[in-house]
Amino acid sequence: MADLSTLYMGLKLKNPIIVASSSLTSTLDSVKRCEDAGAGAVVLKSLFEEQITSDTERMIGDMDYNAHTDAYDMFSTAGTDYYMNEYLGLVEKAKASLSIPVIPSVNCVSSHNWIDYAERFVSVGADALELNVFILPSNPDTDGSVIEEAYFDILRDVKKHIKIPVALKIGYHFSGMANFIRKLSRQGADGLVLFNRFYRIDIDTKNLKLKSAGFISSPGEMALSLQWIALLSGEITSDISAATGIHDGNSIVKQILAGASSVQLCSVLMNEGLDTISEMKQYIESWMNEKNFNTIADFKGILSQKSSTHPESYERSQYIKALVGIS
Ligand SMILES: Cc1cc2nc3c(=O)[nH]c(=O)nc-3n(C[C@H](O)[C@H](O)[C@H](O)COP(=O)(O)O)c2cc1C
Repeated sequence: MADLSTLYMGLKLKNPIIVASSSLTSTLDSVKRCEDAGAGAVVLKSLFEEQITSDTERMIGDMDYNAHTDAYDMFSTAGTDYYMNEYLGLVEKAKASLSIPVIPSVNCVSSHNWIDYAERFVSVGADALELNVFILPSNPDTDGSVIEEAYFDILRDVKKHIKIPVALKIGYHFSGMANFIRKLSRQGADGLVLFNRFYRIDIDTKNLKLKSAGFISSPGEMALSLQWIALLSGEITSDISAATGIHDGNSIVKQILAGASSVQLCSVLMNEGLDTISEMKQYIESWMNEKNFNTIADFKGILSQKSSTHPESYERSQYIKALVGIS
C-alpha cells in the first residue's frame, strides 16, 4: 500500500497536504477540523506586527500621551502582550490538541520583532516557524539588492536565535530568482514556500474605482510555482512547499514530481470544503499504486531539471516545443 508520509524540514508529515496560513487556521476549532479532515500539518494564520500595534492603539484610544507617559507605556505593553498572548495561547492549545505539526506564521515590519516573536513561539512548543516575508519592490528608488538583503537579514537573525526549523514564504518578484533562492537556502532556510499569493487589484470601470481582484486562486496559477520548483529543487537543500493554485490531487502529484516535499492549500479548501483533502489523498494513493511508487520519496523530484538527462536544455527544449507545437 502506498505510503503518503513525507519529510518537510525534518518534520514527518502523514501526507504532503498542509493547510496554508489563512482563516482556515485561525482558531483552535478550525485547526482541529483540518486535522480531522486528514491534513498533514497546519500553518496558523499569520500574526501581523501591524495588527498588534493597531489593536494596541485602539485599546489606548485617545489618551493624552504627554500627561500620562507612564500610563501610556504600561497600557502599550499590556496591549501588545494581550494580542501576542492570544496568538501564543492558540499555538499552545493547538500543540496540546493536535498530533500533526503546528507551524505558526509571522509577518513583521521591525527587525527586532521578528526575533522576539520567533522566540516566543518556540517557548510555547511550535514545531517550526513560517516567516511570511513581504516586501513589495514597488519603490523605483530601491535597488533589488537592498530588498534581497532585507530577506537575508531577517532569516539570519531569526535562525541565530531559534533552534526549530524555519521556512520563508516568499513571492516571485525577484530579478535573479534562482540565485536569490539558492542564497536563502545556503543561509539556512530549512523550508521555502513557493510562492505566496498577494493582494491584487482590479479596476471597476463602471464606478471608476479600484477594487480587489479577489482572494481565491485559479488552477492556472500553479504553473508559476511548478516551473520554478522543477528548475530549483535539485539546486537547493531547503525543503520546498509548493503553494498557490493547487486545486486537486493531480496537481499535488505534479508538484512532488517537480521536487516539492509538501504542498499548501487554501483556495480549494475554502471553495470546496475540507473534505476534498481525503479525495486528494485517495487520488495520490491510487496514482502511486498505478505507477508502482511505494513512497513519496520514490518520485519526489524525478522530473526536476536536475534529474533530467539533459538539464542544460530543460528550459529551452520545453520552450521550443511549445513554440513549434510539439507536445
Ligand atoms: C482569506 C485569506 C487569508 C490569508 N491569510 C494569510 C496569512 O495570514 N498569512 C499568509 O502567509 N498567507 C495568507 N493567505 C495566503 C494563503 O496562505 C495562500 O498562500 C494563498 O491563498 C495561495 O494558495 P491557494 O492558491 O491555495 O489559495 C491568505 C489567503 C486567503 C485567501
